[in-house]
Amino acid sequence: GYRNLTAILATEFAADKALSNCFRAGGRRLRCRGVEPTEFFVAGRPAHGEGELTVTHPYDGRTVGRTTFATADQVEAAVAAAAGVAAEAAALPAHVRAAALDHVSRRLGERAEEVAQLITAENGKPIKWARAEVGRAVSTFRWAAEEARRFSGELQRLDTDPAATGRIALVRRVPRGPVLGIAPFNFPLNLVAHKVAPAIAVGAPIVVKPAPATPLSALLLGEILAETELPEGMFSVLPLPNERAAELVADPRLPVVSFTGSGPVGAAIRRSVPEKHVTLELGGNAAAVICEDWISDEDLTFAAHRIATFANYQAGQSCIAVQRVYVHEWVYDGFLPRLIASVEALRTGDPFDSHVDVGPLVSEEAALRVEEWVDEAVTAGANLHVGGRREGATYPPTVLSGVPKDAKVCTEEVFGPVLVVGPVESDDAAFAEVNDSAYGLQAGVFTHSLQTAFSAARTLEVGGIIVGDVPSYRADQMPYGGVKGSGVGREGLRSAMEDYTEPRVLVLTGVTL
Ligand code: SIN
Repeated sequence: GYRNLTAILATEFAADKALSNCFRAGGRRLRCRGVEPTEFFVAGRPAHGEGELTVTHPYDGRTVGRTTFATADQVEAAVAAAAGVAAEAAALPAHVRAAALDHVSRRLGERAEEVAQLITAENGKPIKWARAEVGRAVSTFRWAAEEARRFSGELQRLDTDPAATGRIALVRRVPRGPVLGIAPFNFPLNLVAHKVAPAIAVGAPIVVKPAPATPLSALLLGEILAETELPEGMFSVLPLPNERAAELVADPRLPVVSFTGSGPVGAAIRRSVPEKHVTLELGGNAAAVICEDWISDEDLTFAAHRIATFANYQAGQSCIAVQRVYVHEWVYDGFLPRLIASVEALRTGDPFDSHVDVGPLVSEEAALRVEEWVDEAVTAGANLHVGGRREGATYPPTVLSGVPKDAKVCTEEVFGPVLVVGPVESDDAAFAEVNDSAYGLQAGVFTHSLQTAFSAARTLEVGGIIVGDVPSYRADQMPYGGVKGSGVGREGLRSAMEDYTEPRVLVLTGVTL
C-alpha cells in the first residue's frame, strides 16, 4: 500500500518537475507576488522551508511567484501541533469557530480582485472564472460559519420499548481527528476552502497540501486564516512535492484524508490506509442529455449555449465539465449547428483579458495529452467539427461526433475543452449511455417533464443530476461527490462536516420527555 502510493506519487512529481524546469528556462520576470518566496504556514505561523518551488503562468510560462518546500521537521511540527490541539479544537465554542469562518469569508471578499488575479496567474483560468471562484469561496466560508452555528446533533427517544422507559439519547457528532487535505490545481482556492472550512466548522485541525503547480492561492488563504483567533496548530498549509504526500497519508495522527485529484492516486491512497476515513473526489466524464421534449428553438439555443460554455470553462479542467452529449434523434439536427456556433463564438486567448472565455490548460504537457486523445479519435473515424489545433498550452474548444465508443475522449476524463456529441433513439437509451462509464459524478438532463426528471433520478448512476441545465452546476452547500470511479464521500459543507465527524451517543437515564 504505502510503497505503491509513494511510487505513484513519484511518477506524478517527475512530470511536475519537468514542467517547472521547462517554464524556468523561459526566465521571465515575476508578475504578481514579490521576489521573496511566499511564506507557508506551520501550525498557524508563517515559515520558509527548503529548496524552491517556482510558480509559472500557464499561458506564457513567465514566473508569477515562488515559495519553498516544507522541511521534514516542519512537517513533523505541523502534524504534532494538529494532534496536540485536537481536543482543544473539538471543544471550541461554536461562536469561535463561526467567527473565524466569517472572518475568512469577509477578508476574501475584501481582497477579491487580488485573489482572482493570483488564481489566474498561477492556474491560467480566465479572470472571469477566477472571479467566480473567489465569489464561491466567500460563500463556502460563509456557509460553513452558518453550519457551525447549527451543527447540534439530535435527541432520540428510546422509550419505544418498555425496558427503555425513562431513557433518551443525545446523538452528537465529534471530530474523528485531524484532517489531511490534499487539493488539486483546478480550483486552487475553492477546493482548498472545501477542505478547510468544514474542518474548522466541526473543530478539527487540518493540514493542507496544495497542488505544487498552484500553491499561492492556498498560501494567501493561510495568511487570512492566520489573522483569526483559532488556536495554534489548528491549521497548516505545507507546499510539498507530490512524492512526499505518502508520508502524510500514512501518518496515524491524521486519521481523516480528504483527497481531490486523479483516480489512480485516489485509489492508491484508499488501498494504502484502509483503517483511515478517506474521502475521494476524483474524476468524471460528465454527460448532458437533450431529451425528446427539449425541442423549441429557445430550448435548443439555451442548451447549446450552456453546454458550449461549460465544456470549455477553465479549458475543461473541472471534474464536472461537460464531456459527452447525448441528443434525442428528433432534435439532433437542430441542436448540432447551434452547438457548433456557440463553441465557435467562444474567445480563446490571454486569461487576464476579461473578454476571454477559454485560456490555456495548466501546462503544455496537459494540452499535448488532449491533442493526442483527439487525434486518436479522429484517426478512428470521428468527425472534427471545430477546434483541434493546439498552440502551446492552449487547446481550442473542440467538438467531435461519430466517435467510437472506446475512444479515450469518451471513456476517460479528458480534462480539456473537448465535447463528444451524438444522437440517441430515446431518452432511456441516453440514460444507458450516461451509465456506460467508469465514472459517476454529475449529469445534466435537459427536459421539461417531471416524469423524465424522476426517471433520470432513478436511473442515473451519479452523485447529482441537474435538470434543465449542465452537469457542471454546483452550489457549494449541496452534497457533491460521485460513485464508481468518481470517488467516495461528499463535499459541500454539511456533508463534509459529517464525513469529518462520527456520532457519539450519550444515553441519559431517569428522564421523561
Ligand atoms: C471539481 O472539479 O471537482 C470541482 C467542480 C466545482 O467545484 O465546480
